[in-house]
Amino acid sequence: MTTIPRPAVFVRLALLASALCGAQPALSAEPAASAPAAQHVRAHASACTSCHGPSGRAPEGSTIASLAGRQQAELLAQLQAFRSGTRPATVMHQIARGYTDEQLAAIAAWFANVR
Ligand code: HEC
Repeated sequence: MTTIPRPAVFVRLALLASALCGAQPALSAEPAASAPAAQHVRAHASACTSCHGPSGRAPEGSTIASLAGRQQAELLAQLQAFRSGTRPATVMHQIARGYTDEQLAAIAAWFANVR
């Protein structure tokens, strides 16, 4: 019977886990404090591009609007109108509800900055 190696495996896993956890503070201590936030915005924005096109540029002939390079305030106003229900929608009212005001503002800014 090989009952001896098992605890050894657990010890190794525990060491690995603590090593990985220990590595996290080092990762979050990156020089640019805004870097993680920027990554989040990018991840949120990428949730929009399956419908609105790569980087928010809708393909020719698409019935879904382009978002790229539009005014941040205008995009944000639309997103807030979807979320509050003042602008009726097929899908955007549900999508907009998944984000906070701050996230919507950041996403709108991200698309506004696409050149
Ligand atoms: C499943 C497809 C889909 C996804 C994903 C999606 N949208 Fe939309 N979007 C639409 C459709 C369709 C409309 C038109 C309104 C409606 O019927 O919901 C729209 C409309 C909009 C409008 C208004 C455009 C205009 O000129 O009137 C904005 C702004 C917008 N979306 C932003 C976003 C953002 C930001 C995301 C990501 C957080 C996103 N959308 C994700 C499908 C999508």
